[in-house]
Amino acid sequence: MEVQEAVQKRRSIRHFLDKPVPEEDVNKIISDAIWAPSWGNSQPWEIIAVTGSPLDQFKKENKETIMKGEPPNADITFPAEWPEKFQERLNGIERSLFDALSIDAEDFEGGLNYYGDMFSIFDAPVFLIITVDKKISLEYAMIDMGSIMQNICLLAHDRGLGTCLLAASISYPKISRKLFSIPDTKNIVCGIALGWPDSQAPENNFERSREGVNEFLRWVR
Ligand SMILES: Cc1cc2nc3c(=O)[nH]c(=O)nc-3n(C[C@H](O)[C@H](O)[C@H](O)COP(=O)(O)O)c2cc1C
Repeated sequence: MEVQEAVQKRRSIRHFLDKPVPEEDVNKIISDAIWAPSWGNSQPWEIIAVTGSPLDQFKKENKETIMKGEPPNADITFPAEWPEKFQERLNGIERSLFDALSIDAEDFEGGLNYYGDMFSIFDAPVFLIITVDKKISLEYAMIDMGSIMQNICLLAHDRGLGTCLLAASISYPKISRKLFSIPDTKNIVCGIALGWPDSQAPENNFERSREGVNEFLRWVR
């Protein structure tokens, strides 16, 4: 697959087939993804691949915790508010997704159930957790983390696999710490759902948009 095609065709996958992902595929994706650039080739990322019964337990506890209404307490603080135009984009993606799933704006229970699914990793067969040592300052490490996470998403897509980066998944780091033996010396940066996309699912097919290039690019000639 051409790089341009992979970049344009990748999309967040929020419904997976009930089909396991071979460990060799995950190992290959990660062994290619680690060619991402990093500050001074420091390669500060650490990746935990979770599957099977530990993942089932995580899905259960994470979902129960959001359903109880416990406020998120992620290691990397979630943004509290966004300037208006960014907030509009956030609202737009949620509206498009909920429209695709026929969840009305007033359907509080439908929305809550959807978030329950999100916190149970959309029932993906594999969950990747990206961590970084707390001794490493986060500002530049987060750039390195973004590089490897995008590589993972593109390489998975190249193999016909789907991914969804999930900040929601690490809202309650105490659960991952306990179940996956992640010490307090690590920052839990992000989770990624990984599995075979259900190509028929509406949440994998709704239209997403991007602003035109001139919104982001300014030439100085
Ligand atoms: C750091 C980060 C965290 C994200 N967390 C979530 C999440 O918790 N739940 C979710 O459904 N999507 C999450 N996403 C996916 C975005 O919603 C998605 O990338 C965006 O809407 C653009 O859509 P696309 O990936 O299909 O192009 C996250 C993306 C990033 C980069």
